[in-house]
Amino acid sequence: LDLDLIVRNAVVVTASDQFPTDIGVKNGKIKILAAGIPSQEGCREIDAEGGFVTPGGVDSHVHIAQSAAKGLGARSADDWTSGTKSALAGGTTTILAFAVQARGTSLIDAVNEYHKKSDDHSVCDYGYHLIVTDPNEVQMHTELPKLVKEGISSMKVYMTYVDLKLNDGEILNVLMAARKYKVTTMVHCENAEVIDWMTTNLQERGMTEPWHHGTSRPPIVESEATNRALALAELMDTPMLIVHVSAPEAVNIIRRAQTRLLPIYAETCPHYATLDGSEMRKDDFEGAKCVCAPPLRDDPKDKERIWEGLSNGTFTVFSSDHAPTCFDDDRGKKLGLIRNPTNNPRGNFRTIPNGLPGVETRTPLLWSEGVLKGRITPQRFVELNSTNAAKLYGMYPQKGTIQPGSDADLIIWRPGHKRSQYKIENSKLHHACDYTPYEGMMLEDWPRYTILRGQVVYDGETNEVLAQPGSGKFLQRGSSTLPGPRNQWLSEWRPE
Ligand code: URP
Ligand code: ZN
Ligand code: ZN
Repeated sequence: LDLDLIVRNAVVVTASDQFPTDIGVKNGKIKILAAGIPSQEGCREIDAEGGFVTPGGVDSHVHIAQSAAKGLGARSADDWTSGTKSALAGGTTTILAFAVQARGTSLIDAVNEYHKKSDDHSVCDYGYHLIVTDPNEVQMHTELPKLVKEGISSMKVYMTYVDLKLNDGEILNVLMAARKYKVTTMVHCENAEVIDWMTTNLQERGMTEPWHHGTSRPPIVESEATNRALALAELMDTPMLIVHVSAPEAVNIIRRAQTRLLPIYAETCPHYATLDGSEMRKDDFEGAKCVCAPPLRDDPKDKERIWEGLSNGTFTVFSSDHAPTCFDDDRGKKLGLIRNPTNNPRGNFRTIPNGLPGVETRTPLLWSEGVLKGRITPQRFVELNSTNAAKLYGMYPQKGTIQPGSDADLIIWRPGHKRSQYKIENSKLHHACDYTPYEGMMLEDWPRYTILRGQVVYDGETNEVLAQPGSGKFLQRGSSTLPGPRNQWLSEWRPE
């Protein structure tokens, strides 16, 4: 067999199955799954001791070294080395990050610029989603198809943020191109005009404290935009993924569309399943640490609605939305104290950069709070953590499963007899952010090893990342293999 690595005594979990086996790896790929693979000279062996082995995590929503959405001059805490080290230490072996088109510029230029930031620096495998801000004819019908050929098969559009948002007609232009070139479209659903109106009104009343970020965008802001995005997808008969869903009303709207058999997919994030709006009310400006969009929701019971959607299949993927800015940084969360025209001593939510760090804690939170606390099955964990993102974004079965021929990307978990509680502390994490929103939270487990293409890249016994910058590979992705257009129309109109 001439193997490079044997993982012994594993209980392999995939999106469908769970079985005891050894795993034989050759040239970075899984070669054989069988009990009792014979030992061979020069082949490394790792004893999983009966522990679970799941596919390496695929985090399909990560912002690294990206210009900030609010246009405040905020800087990303992570560069491509720290951000991807953090991914590996939490069991994630593939990330999809964003390349933003500044309005009036070219998608291809944006991708080239972002490649410069990542290519010699990433330690995990990666790809890019486009963020489209200017869906004109040239961009959508000359540049986009070229990028699809280069393996960039997904794009995100925003319904909010002045620098990024598209109107409904522009979104239709994007969806028509997405349908034609088989590109997965992700939509950030929040109603921009309501947020702007509310923000101005709150400023006039001096209600600028961090938690009024939540006041300015109540659940209806998300659910209205979600409903509108789904209507546009139905009109164009095209699949769509709604990103970072937080409001139960939005979950219900998505579920209803899925029940009507529309090809609608949904993403939620660790923070919506484990934190709530009370985080934004913490003293000493600490609330700014949890300002993100959509906001954490005020009703603590909403977290259980998110878990329901994770368990029952409404959510397709579970992504971090890692968007780190430091807390104690004049170009981070502190902007909310510095750019503070009303001098409210508690700061101004309008100038706090949105986003939380979370690429490292995503998988351990889903495993511990989800599987080990009995909220989701191990198979559902694998779907949400790896398989569905690999299918939706055109990487399956190279990524997202454990089967002969797939990349040998593995998380080896501690066996039951070795499991011990793990306290989340920022000092243990590998990102370059100066805080974690989960400080002090107790987990039931943490990855024992992360393996990327057959190499041990994270050792949980020493908490060390062992991969060298530049060892991560850019992934040339294909089209989604989840259900697509249905050829059902709302009128006589058809796209070209
Ligand atoms: O607050 C967030 N999520 N910031 C990142 C940008 C985005 O919209 O995903
Ligand atoms: Zn977003
Ligand atoms: Zn995001």
